[in-house]
Amino acid sequence: MKLWGGRFSKETDALVEAFNASIGFDRRLYEEDIRGSMAHCRMLAACGIIEQAEADAIIAGLAEIREEIAAGKMEFTAALEDIHMHIEKRLIDKIGPVGGKLHTGRSRNDQVALDLHMYVKKEILATVALIKNLQAVLVEVAEKHHDAVMPGYTHLQRAQPVLFAHHLLAYFWQLERDRERFLDAYKRADWMPLGAGALAGTTFPVNREMVAEELEFATLYENSMDAVSDRDFIVEFLANAAILMMHLSRLSEDLILWNSQEFGFVILDDAFTTGSSIMPQKKNPDVAELVRGKTGRVYGHLMGLLTVLKGLPLTYNKDLQEDKEGLFDTVDTIKICLQLYAAMLRTLQVDKERMYAAVAGDFASATDLADYLVRKGLPFREAHAVVGKLVGKCVAQGRRLVDLTVAELQEASPFFGPEALELLPPENCVAARTSRGGTAAEAVEKQLQKAREILAQD
Ligand code: ARG
Repeated sequence: MKLWGGRFSKETDALVEAFNASIGFDRRLYEEDIRGSMAHCRMLAACGIIEQAEADAIIAGLAEIREEIAAGKMEFTAALEDIHMHIEKRLIDKIGPVGGKLHTGRSRNDQVALDLHMYVKKEILATVALIKNLQAVLVEVAEKHHDAVMPGYTHLQRAQPVLFAHHLLAYFWQLERDRERFLDAYKRADWMPLGAGALAGTTFPVNREMVAEELEFATLYENSMDAVSDRDFIVEFLANAAILMMHLSRLSEDLILWNSQEFGFVILDDAFTTGSSIMPQKKNPDVAELVRGKTGRVYGHLMGLLTVLKGLPLTYNKDLQEDKEGLFDTVDTIKICLQLYAAMLRTLQVDKERMYAAVAGDFASATDLADYLVRKGLPFREAHAVVGKLVGKCVAQGRRLVDLTVAELQEASPFFGPEALELLPPENCVAARTSRGGTAAEAVEKQLQKAREILAQD
């Protein structure tokens, strides 16, 4: 017999039962469901809605059920639809009809909303801890390779030399904003929905503040219809996850390029790469590729939930059950990606010589030559043209800027003096960019200092 079977005269169709059930995935919420039920039950007793002895029996029963589920002893069946029904049914089987008093003044609509708020809060905290761990690894790798110089790219064309550490730290700051976004979203997950009932509130003299306090919610929903209808706090989580994955995907792309034979800047550890079933020489950056690939499903979950929500009239509609699988999959995906990236980056080998050869063999100091002429009084546009001609000449002759003589420089522009040659080695281009946030070692050291301060906070 269904817990709601009273008004029905027929059994549910078997296909409907399978289609309707969420137990296959919402069992993940059992701890939140039981904690929420315990708080609700204590409040019912405190407000004189049920007897204290009844509450004691219910809470003891719930504690046992929690053990049973944790030990894998609970049997799940589509006939009982979802985790809420499973726990309530088990409670009644265990302690008798008094178990049926737990659901007083409550609906599954506010119950499931409560569980989800608690779950999202928990997972936000877990996510920001994992992000911070990855940020710490980025700092560690940047410090370890503090003097490696590499080409910085625009349009994937060599543009200006930068420190490898500077490039890595760019991701540190992207992750810092991701962390901030998740923590900000915590504020909206921190609204307590229970007490909304099915949609309109309850006739029982409940104390919602008491439940909020026990479950450590900062505030509560002021409108019962809002409380059971919205999933915006999940949308925010998914949006933040999508942005995080976008950042990890770009890092993946950099790593995949750098790890290729064409670049050869880094070597991914054997433990984080895999082979080919046909080509014995292959060592593939599968982890980075999969992180890039899994970005797609996280974007999909965000679009999926936004689409589920957009046409729903207030308040609860069964469509809302579709909020869970995408959320759970997103949580699993971002957690494993963050963990893998921390471990993979920690073992990354860096080929400083290859990086330097790439940057020394190109025209990365061209901007510095133009800047030199500007300091001598030439308008930047003219300086740009003079240096452009020099580059063209080098390209035609298969030479590099560092191969130019003072005489050749002066032939291009009388403003050039012998000290212009000093500008050409890439490490000097790097050292000259001392502006705040720039790539010079001293500016990067200041940046690292700030990053370390952030990591030291909790
Ligand atoms: N399994 C449902 C869900 O995930 C729980 C709420 C059901 N409420 C209802 N009125 N059918 O949304």
